[in-house]
Amino acid sequence: MNFKRKILCIGAGYVGGPTMAMIALKCPQYRVTVVDINEQRIREWQSDNLPIYEPGLLPVVKEALNRNLFFSTEIDRNIKEADIIFVSVNTPTKSFGQGAGMAADLQYWEKTARQILANSDTDKIVVEKSTLPIRTARAMERILNSNDRGIRFEVLSNPEFLAEGTAIKDLEAPDRVLIGSRETEPGIRARKELVDIYANWVPHERIIESNVWSAELSKLTANAFLAQRVSSINSLSALCEKTEADINEVAYAIGTDSRIGNKFLKPSVGFGGSCFKKDILNLVYICRSYGLIEVADYWESVVKINEWQEKRFVQNILVNMFNTIAGKKIAVLGFAFKADTGDTRESPAIYVARGLVEERANVVISDPKAIINAKKELFDINACVTYEEDPYRAAEGSHAIAILTEWAVYKTLDYKRIYDSMEKPAFIFDGRNLLDHKKLYEIGFNVFSIGKGPLKHI
Ligand code: NAD
Ligand code: UDX
Repeated sequence: MNFKRKILCIGAGYVGGPTMAMIALKCPQYRVTVVDINEQRIREWQSDNLPIYEPGLLPVVKEALNRNLFFSTEIDRNIKEADIIFVSVNTPTKSFGQGAGMAADLQYWEKTARQILANSDTDKIVVEKSTLPIRTARAMERILNSNDRGIRFEVLSNPEFLAEGTAIKDLEAPDRVLIGSRETEPGIRARKELVDIYANWVPHERIIESNVWSAELSKLTANAFLAQRVSSINSLSALCEKTEADINEVAYAIGTDSRIGNKFLKPSVGFGGSCFKKDILNLVYICRSYGLIEVADYWESVVKINEWQEKRFVQNILVNMFNTIAGKKIAVLGFAFKADTGDTRESPAIYVARGLVEERANVVISDPKAIINAKKELFDINACVTYEEDPYRAAEGSHAIAILTEWAVYKTLDYKRIYDSMEKPAFIFDGRNLLDHKKLYEIGFNVFSIGKGPLKHI
């Protein structure tokens, strides 16, 4: 079949896989290939056992697979053939050298740029899909356009706003698609090519065009704003616990103000995920490097409150269980950083599990989708942790339950049955305010939640 254009995506992860599957589904006239250095990942994308759990993803992949969607490890050949190259490789926080613990590690990114350069013999559009520090496009242009073969590369920024667990819904009906380019004639032409792809299913008014720097910065800013809301509500949850105000009532009351809005005001044990912390720290690092110390400190406090919230959760468990949990079995229900994903990157459950193990508790971890990843996260303390997919078995004989992920299935468990199988006094620490606390209290539990006074029998 003659395709209109050949699209390549480098990086077949949580972003590259679902995003390209959606483009392929909606644009059968484009050939879409996704490549990765990870052979197993590529094999899994070609199977019924996808490398990531994401509701609704499998049918999307299956419909387009081998029609106009292909997964491959042949990176060089596919670069050569592509007209438009999305780069969706990971950009984790740097763990070494200057900026360690703050700046984005751009080694995978730069390697990709050089690989594109080495394997291209025609002009190409290169699209930043990964989240990157502002002005990365300039470095990218410098590397790519350093060639003396007369090949021109246009670098666009098209950050991805999907959230895990709702990726397919977000990709199918995005609030907006953001496309930034240089405001030169070839830049605008390249931008239009990308607009044309998304316009196959996204209404024009939802496709925002901007200069390339605004697009790069908007991504970091969006994540910083979202995380800031969670830290804001979480900071006030602590005040509620001291004052008999109820954080859920406060969130509802303020969220009904249309200027504030009701989203991202759910109090929790803390935000997790591969993006929020990494992107805020990157923003902080960038601000510091421009000498904007006050701005940097302001955003850094969002991360600090989050860390404090996680710490507070562990302390609450310890203090309320008579200051010792050594030798006590504690069932952790939920290890994913949010519901409907198996992803555990930066999950608050990691910190909590480690904190409990440090206090010598016997920790049992249960999760419907994240046990494999949980084992990897806790590789160094796996001797002190057990894993049990069935929440009833996980809770059996335990002194306490900690709810760390808001999986819907935890709402409908038979808590009377669980209570009966536990040591007494039985404790429940609801890190997501997911359950009916009054009902649990009536069953006999001592109930501790986020931002509300405890319901105790002791
Ligand atoms: P990921 O780790 O799941 O996937 C990245 C993939 O890139 C991996 O499979 C890795 O093997 C591959 N890769 C690395 N170097 C490569 C190379 N040189 N050639 C080919 N493949 C290579 O990461 P992700 O979660 O998909 O995130 C990718 C980017 O998107 C990051 O910048 C992230 O900040 C951003 N982002 C992520 C999300 C999210 O929800 N996960 C949402 C929006 C944006
Ligand atoms: C986030 C952004 O939402 C998305 O736009 C971006 O592309 C990637 O980063 P993600 O991390 O997948 O997405 O999930 P998100 O729904 O934002 O949740 C992040 C964390 O915040 C989770 O741990 C979640 O449980 C927590 N959270 C979210 C709260 O604690 N309270 C809330 O009200 C909302």
